[in-house]
Amino acid sequence: MNIAVLGSGTIGQSWCALFLAAGYEVFAYDPDPSRELEIRGFVIDSEPTLRALGFSHAGSLTNFCFTTDAAKAVEGAQVVQESAPENLVLKQQLYRLIESALDPKSTVLSSTSGLTLEMLQTGFSDPSRILIAHPFNPPHLIPLVEVLGNELTAPDLIQRTLTFYEGLGKVPIELKKSVPGHIANRLQAVLWQEVLHLAREGVASLSDIDKVIANGPGLRWAIYGPNQLFSLAAGAKGLEGFLDHLGPSFQDWWSAAGHVELDADTRQFIKRQYSSFDENECRAMKAYRDHLICRILNEKNF
Ligand SMILES: NC(=O)c1ccc[n+]([C@@H]2O[C@H](COP(=O)([O-])OP(=O)(O)OC[C@H]3O[C@@H](n4cnc5c(N)ncnc54)[C@H](O)[C@@H]3O)[C@@H](O)[C@H]2O)c1
Repeated sequence: MNIAVLGSGTIGQSWCALFLAAGYEVFAYDPDPSRELEIRGFVIDSEPTLRALGFSHAGSLTNFCFTTDAAKAVEGAQVVQESAPENLVLKQQLYRLIESALDPKSTVLSSTSGLTLEMLQTGFSDPSRILIAHPFNPPHLIPLVEVLGNELTAPDLIQRTLTFYEGLGKVPIELKKSVPGHIANRLQAVLWQEVLHLAREGVASLSDIDKVIANGPGLRWAIYGPNQLFSLAAGAKGLEGFLDHLGPSFQDWWSAAGHVELDADTRQFIKRQYSSFDENECRAMKAYRDHLICRILNEKNF
């Protein structure tokens, strides 16, 4: 299969590494020619983790081409994974640029985090071929892909897209309706608001709240979702038993949840409490994260 990757930044490079590792032909596009070297470096760096996940072509650049011509990248591609900047006008311009070069049966999958499918569809004269397929960073490792179509979507396209990602070892979820931020980012946003609220109230520092998550609920969340976990907590009584036991407490905690504005004050507060990491520290932390994600995934699939 031939795949075009449009936009070769954080997300595009990661998609490239995965598609190449799976043995697909990948034609990447970016208006910035320096991205070619970055992708090549990313593919090589991600080889150990992708190989550990069972991708026999991990690290291979034999099937890789790069261009600064978007229309050329999509010629002959069955799938187009668009990861251009989060800017509607720019994405629409890109779609107009590629539409006449697209194979009549090809699918365009947008990685957008926050734009709606309706907005993206206005960039095409044939809106039936575009879907949202939102990954969770880094897409070459994290299994989740949130897939969204609507009444304009070609018949079977959602199912074919779910099957495509499943074939890559992903866990695609179909969104039945459009909501800002899809699901995963909304959940992160709600949690982060409470993190900032608690820190601003002086309950604990931002670093300690990170420890709370990484050493408490976060460990369980990698195994099961909250409904399953709460159900387990009440044993044979299941979720209903959990509701009888802790439902009223949850209601109180919901009422006590805080609201935070991401204004100058909050930004100052974050800056005072949390120092950023330098380039080397970031690289080491990402490598550690990816190594552990990979180990967890392998244990889960076992
Ligand atoms: N970063 C994340 O955590 C994340 C996660 C999931 C989804 N997304 C989505 O993925 C998409 C890309 O995000 P990113 O974080 O990779 O951004 P990025 O800024 O890292 O990369 C964007 C790339 O697009 C290129 N570009 C500029 N103009 C372009 C054009 N006209 N056509 C094609 N490419 C162009 C840039 O040169 C750059 O290489 C966005 O829609 C974003 O919402 C991001």
